[in-house]
Amino acid sequence: MTILITGGAGFIGSHLVRRMLHRYPQYHIVNLDLLTYAGNLENLRDVENLPNYTFVKGSIEDEAFLDQLFQQYDFQGVIHLAAESHVDRSIADPMAFIYTNVLGTVRLLHAARQHWKDNMDGKRFYHVSTDEVYGSLGETGFFTETTPYDPRSPYSASKAASDHFVRAFHHTYGLPVVLSNCSNNYGPCQFPEKLIPLMINNIQHNKPLPVYGDGRYTRDWLWVEDHAEAIDLIYHQGRIGETYNIGGNNEWKNIDLVHALCDVMDELLGRAAGTSRQLIHFVTDRPGHDRRYAIDASKLKNDLGWAPTVYAEDGLRRTAQWYLDNAEWLRHVTSGEYLQYYERQYAS
Ligand code: NAD
Ligand code: TYD
Repeated sequence: MTILITGGAGFIGSHLVRRMLHRYPQYHIVNLDLLTYAGNLENLRDVENLPNYTFVKGSIEDEAFLDQLFQQYDFQGVIHLAAESHVDRSIADPMAFIYTNVLGTVRLLHAARQHWKDNMDGKRFYHVSTDEVYGSLGETGFFTETTPYDPRSPYSASKAASDHFVRAFHHTYGLPVVLSNCSNNYGPCQFPEKLIPLMINNIQHNKPLPVYGDGRYTRDWLWVEDHAEAIDLIYHQGRIGETYNIGGNNEWKNIDLVHALCDVMDELLGRAAGTSRQLIHFVTDRPGHDRRYAIDASKLKNDLGWAPTVYAEDGLRRTAQWYLDNAEWLRHVTSGEYLQYYERQYAS
């Protein structure tokens, strides 16, 4: 059985590729990734020589290339993670999100349909999406699988559009799809444009910690390996045509999370308690900033028996320790393009 994983050199994709290679040595895993700024083969150094692994550099937007790839490998399944994934970048440059997340997903759906249309038995197209498609919650309530879509950033709108196309290919052409919508992930190998690794990196280097707006925006954080486990389970046992919400049951206001990270880092760096909190700066808010995301993951728990395993303080400590232990990794990804991005994003 050969499975195509797209975006496998990114944050979540690399954890999923590693898990699949180790757990299913009988599968051949083909990792297709364009290696944008967010794709990094260093994330997979420990598994790159395994006999059941192949890396292919290319774009999900390239129709001829996808056609040739499907012919060459005769995939039984696709797990699609490749995307532009950062809200702030989508505000600065929405077009890149339309090309990759919408057009790229439709091209991949089209390639799968073309190659599977005579025999869909045993095939599966798994689309990995986000809870951000549901919009923004107030102080209470949770997103369920039936919450109406209400995307409010170019990123979430592009993911919502891609979700709609995945379901349309199921209803119109009978493509055997399954989807999941997950909350914010954290853990090793996350690119330091996202909140947690950005703060860890800045704390370490005594740089200001930019907290948007009043800092009381809320996210539900999930340990990335718990997400990879959920994807594995849904890929193998999820019902065709169904959607599953995945969440950490782990809500934090941003300012509380940043405080917790400061305290963990002070401890790990041997600094006096309270030192890093002094770096916190409240900065201009993100335009259209969604107030709160929170997931009701009871369908996944009841149907497939999944629940998160890593809890907040432990996960934050493990993440902080990983970044401290992997200074080379961090140095490589925070040079070049990152410096220009950082200048543009945090100029004021
Ligand atoms: P990421 O930005 O770390 O990785 C994305 C990967 O996609 C990179 O390796 C990049 O090189 C690759 N890529 C981009 N454009 C491509 C193209 N045209 N062709 C082939 N590859 C391309 O993202 P992530 O955080 O690992 O997220 C993975 C998926 O999970 C995304 O679809 C995202 O929407 C979804 N998701 C992420 C989170 C989160 O908290 N990070 C939460 C829920 C869902
Ligand atoms: P982020 O990690 O970008 O994920 P998302 O926007 O997809 O949820 O941001 C998480 C939260 O942290 C969000 O409310 C925005 C906030 N944030 C800051 O306050 N400062 C920052 O520098 C960043 C990157 C995010």
